[in-house]
Order: sequence, then structure tokens, then C-alpha cells
Amino acid sequence: MTDRIPLLIDTDPGVDDALALLMAFNSRQHELLGLCITAGNVGLDYTTANALKLCEVAGVTVPVYPGCDRPLVFAAEDASYVHGRDGFGDIGYEPAQRRPESEHAALAILRESHAHAGQLLLVTLGPLTNLALAVRLDPTLPERIGRLLVMGGAVTGKGNTSIAAEFNIAFDPEAAAIVFGSFPRIEVVDWEAVLRHGFLHKRFEAWLAAEDPRAGFYDRISRKTRQWAEGKRGEYWHSADALAMMAALYPEHVIEKERHYLHVETAGSQSRGATVVDWLERSGQPAQAEIILTVNQARFEALIQEALGGHI
Ligand code: BDR
Ligand code: CA
Repeated sequence: MTDRIPLLIDTDPGVDDALALLMAFNSRQHELLGLCITAGNVGLDYTTANALKLCEVAGVTVPVYPGCDRPLVFAAEDASYVHGRDGFGDIGYEPAQRRPESEHAALAILRESHAHAGQLLLVTLGPLTNLALAVRLDPTLPERIGRLLVMGGAVTGKGNTSIAAEFNIAFDPEAAAIVFGSFPRIEVVDWEAVLRHGFLHKRFEAWLAAEDPRAGFYDRISRKTRQWAEGKRGEYWHSADALAMMAALYPEHVIEKERHYLHVETAGSQSRGATVVDWLERSGQPAQAEIILTVNQARFEALIQEALGGHI
């Protein structure tokens, strides 16, 4: 028996997913049960290969469960223009030796929810396709989840993939609507929170100089994305999934949050994938979204540095 918190991560690695996963690998308070993989930033074959490679680099042997290779209903554009064609900066790495599991990610979520009923911390860093499928297979799933934290949304409509929508929700709005319509409480780290928690490229480059294989690998896979981001957003870098992971693993470092009803739009030429928040409690709908507004920035940066093998 262990008193560590059982942790399951659903992810589409992805450059920022990788940083979040390194943070999770580094936690002594959590028992990482496995990585559930979805298509999103790039196709499923790549996101699965990337997860396995990152595990190898970090010396971690948790199971990797490939899941859905497309959104539930409509096809969607990936984010290879941000993360590279292969999702890891196209550095041409040698594939990992380990193979993925044969169990589907949605089934792994259900199985682990039974094995750790009431205790499981489930963190999603990608589109919600696997989780929505799991809920449809077994609608009692939400009763067995201890905490669910989702990286996704743009809670006042300042999107990153369209005017109003954030990538993870916009990639599969039907899945997001199922998840936000099924769970009574979902902690949300949205894109707008990410923009409030940037860190200086210069400082990050210093952390990447740590003499550790994780830092070296992350330096290589993130280089193109960092250059792209610097041209677009200036001297601060933003890592959406790392911020989500910090709030998931260390809720004591969340400073401000608000709980409201959140509705996912699935229609509209401008609104598909938007997350509409009932800030003024007009709907009478149950407030299922705990929206994380600010975290302790110094702790966030320290956790990233440690995840890359740096010593504080
Ligand atoms: C989210 O979209 C993806 O591109 C990132 O990996 C992150 O999960 C940010 O909107
Ligand atoms: Ca992601």
C-alpha cells in the first residue's frame, strides 16, 4: 500500500504536454498509474511515440495507452504548426524501445477508476475524446473520480485557436460538451490563465542548460516552438499543460479560483468550441467548473526547473 495520490494523465504530447509530464514524473506525492493518449496536437501514432520516448528519456516505465485517433464526430485541424509535424519539434529522435499497451485509453480510465475509486486524480492535457468515450461507456464514472482537472477553454472568450475557442476544446467540442455535462466538479485551467503565468524565455533557457538528459531533450524538442512563440508573444513563454499540471499536483499553490457553470458550444460559425461561463449565475445550472485564475508563480517556476533536473 502507498499513501501517494493515484494519478492518471490523458495527453496529446505535444511540447507543453512534455513539460507537464516531466513535472508529474518528478512528484513524490503522486503514484503515476499511466498515460492515456489521444490525437490532438498531432496524430495518435506520433502522440503515442512521443509519450513513450519521453518516458524513456526520463527513465520512467509507466504504461502508455493509445486511445482515440480522431474527434468523436467531426474531423479537426491539428496543431503541428506549433509543435512540429511529429509534435516534438521534428528533431528526428530514435524511437523508444518500449511498446504501448493494447488496452484502449478509455478502458484504462474506467479500470483505474474502479481500482482507485474516490481517490483517483485524473488530469487531461488534450482534447477530451477519450474521457467522453469512457463516460459514454460507463455513465457512473464521475462518481469514482476523486478530482478531475482539465486544461482547456477560454473562460472570457479570448481563444487561441479561433476568436473564442481554445485548442483542446475546439478540437473535439462534442467530447468536451459530454465531459462538462457529466462531471459535477471539474477544475479548469484555461488559456487565459496560461497567459497570466508566462515566464521569461531567458530564464527558461538557463533552466534548460541543466546537466540532465531531461533538460537536454526538452531543449531540443521545444526549440522550434519557443522560436515561434517568441516571434508571436514576445519575451514571455507560456506552457499551458505545465500550468495545469502544477494546479493538479499542488492545489495548495492555487491562489484564486471561482466556481461557475460552464457550457461548451458545439455550433456556430464563430462559437463552436467556445466555453461560455455563467459568471453572474444567471442560468440556474449547477456550477460544475472550478476555474483556476491564479497560482503561485514562483512555485510554478521552481517546479518546472526541478522537473528539468535543476536544483533550487
Ligand atoms: C493546449 O493546446 C495544445 O496545443 C497544448 O498542448 C495545450 O494542451 C493549449 O491550448
Ligand atoms: Ca496538450
